[in-house]
Formats: sequence, C-alpha cells, structure tokens
Amino acid sequence: MEDIYILGIESSCDETSVSIVKNGCVEVATTVFTQMDTHALYGGVVPEIASRMHVESITLVIDETLKKANMKMEDITAIAVTYGPGLVGSLLVGIEAAKTLAFVYHKPLVPVHHIAGHIYANNIEHKMEFPLLALVVSGGHTELVIMKNHYSFVKIGGTLDDAVGEAYDKVARVLSLPYPGGPRVDKLAHIGNDTYSLPIPLDDDSYNFSFSGIKSAVINLNHKLEQKGENVIKEDLACSFQNRVVEILVKKTMRALDEYNINNLIVAGGVAANKGLRERLEKECKENNINLSIPSLKYCTDNATMIAAAGYFAYIKGDRAGLDLNAKPGAKLYE
Ligand code: KG4
Ligand code: ZN
Repeated sequence: MEDIYILGIESSCDETSVSIVKNGCVEVATTVFTQMDTHALYGGVVPEIASRMHVESITLVIDETLKKANMKMEDITAIAVTYGPGLVGSLLVGIEAAKTLAFVYHKPLVPVHHIAGHIYANNIEHKMEFPLLALVVSGGHTELVIMKNHYSFVKIGGTLDDAVGEAYDKVARVLSLPYPGGPRVDKLAHIGNDTYSLPIPLDDDSYNFSFSGIKSAVINLNHKLEQKGENVIKEDLACSFQNRVVEILVKKTMRALDEYNINNLIVAGGVAANKGLRERLEKECKENNINLSIPSLKYCTDNATMIAAAGYFAYIKGDRAGLDLNAKPGAKLYE
C-alpha cells in the first residue's frame, strides 16, 4: 500500500502547530510555536491575543514544517485540522489555513476533534492495541472512554462539573502560582507533605468525576487561614490536593479496566504530563499486568502530531469536510 502522509494543523488554544505524520504513526516533522510566555503576562490565555498570534505565525509554521520534512505540498495525501473544541478565534485560523491548502493543492480535508488528537498521541511511540480504555484528562475534559477499534469512542463516565486541568489551574490561582498553573502545582506537590484534610472527589460506584468540591475546599481552607493571619504551606496544600485527585482518577480507572476486562490503558490530554498521576498509574498497572501507554511530555500538551496521527485514521474511515468547515468551540466526540 502506498504511504499516506497527513499534514495536521492544531490551533485550538495557545499553540500554533503543524506536523506531517506517515501512516498514522511515524512523525516526519513537527513545529510547535507556543504563545505561553505572552499569555503568562496576563495570568491566562487572552483569546484575542491568541488568535492574532496564530494569524501571524501559521504560514511560517506550515513552511517550516515542510522544510524540515524536505517535502512539498504535492507529497501530502490529506490535510487534517482541529475543528473543535477550543477558542473560536484560534480554531478559525487553523481551519482557514487548512481549507486554503486543501483548495489550492486539491487535497482532501479531514476534520479532527481535539480530544481524538490527544488520544492518538498514544499511537506515535507505540501502536495502540484494542480493546483499550482511555483516561482523558485535559483542561476541558475528564473522561473514561472505551475503544474497541480505531476511531470508535464510547464514553463510560465523565466529569459532572470542572475538568481536572481546570481544577488544577484554579488551585494554582488560589496559591498565587503563575500561569500555567497545573505543572506548577505538580512540582510543588512533589516537595510537600500530605497534611491538609481535603475531601476525596466523588468516591462512588459510577465512572463520573467531580472536582468542584475539592476545588471549593481548597479555596475555603486558604480563606480561613488568611482570616486567622496564618500562611498556607503551598507545597503541602498542593501535595494534599494532588493526592486526592490522583487517588480517585486511578481508583476509577483501575475499576473500569477490571469490570470491562480490558488490558490496555492509554492516558490522553495535558494532565497526562502530571508526574503524580504517571507514577501512580505505572505502579498500579505493573501490579495488575495492564499495558500502560502515556505519551512523552511533548505529546501530552497541545501539538499537531497528534492531530495528524488521528487524522490518518479519520481519513481511512472516510471522514471529510468541505470548504464550508466551521469552528465548533463546543464540539463533542461522543454523543
Ligand atoms: O490538553 P491540554 O494541553 O489542553 C486542553 O486540551 O485542554 O491541557 C491543558 C491542561 C491545563 O489545565 C494544564 O494546567 C494541565 O493541562 N496540565 C497539568 C500538567 N501539565 C499540564 N496539570 C497537572 N499537572 C501537570 N504536570
Ligand atoms: Zn489539548
């Protein structure tokens, strides 16, 4: 069979990224231009600035990636692009670039859901094996998803309120940590002790999650200590928070593997970079003979390699978009 080269474009938040992936698993070349330092000045992503910066960089990032791959647009089989979820102004920049390339070079246009991308980040370093359970943990998602085959996603549980990354970012704000908060809470957690009493989030028989309670508990605790004129020990609060969150994520994940008799676990999304979560899952999976896949750190955060990898399987399945493709900020992967 002829090799299939997908050029993927990702611009849903604050990374402009383009990647070329061969046959859904071989990364040929990738460029990631992150706007993180700019948004850090404002304590979080400013949507207007994000879209303007995507506009300024998108053509450079496309050119740079083709150059690194030593390829021309004529060598590309299809263009895959994130259509949602994400910031509408940011998504539109990637989508317009993808549509322009598809139109000018007569290439198929393949729409990719951002979370399908995070899941397929796991196909780059090892091939995904089925059936598998995916623990999806990002800034906007916390879900347990079963995949029996490529590009088939069945959600068995999800968050009822805040996503886990969102809870991390809010706790970081309470602790006055600079943006991006999640990785900083993770770092502090590793030098602190679990001394604060915080509730375990939604410890029930379902596969759902709820992080708003623990988030409020952290806010209230911080407030009470401030009122008493006491300082919160940031490292210890980060450690206590992280332990409770990781505990419930791991507990429900391991129970789902057991109940559905699945031996393959993959972890997807920005919070897959969390050291506490990685360590606990590695230990539990080793003890229970589960094949665990967690992407290397560079594939956990937003990148186009994952979009091009997912784009290959969407292309094979026959997913196509027309030149009327629009951004879907609230796009759902599972109905
Ligand atoms: O997947 P992602 O890059 O963006 C979305 O698709 O949402 O995830 C970003 C989220 C942010 O909430 C960020 O704070 C969190 O992932 N994150 C972490 C870590 N690295 C990134 N949270 C906890 N520990 C980390 N090491
Ligand atoms: Zn993401």
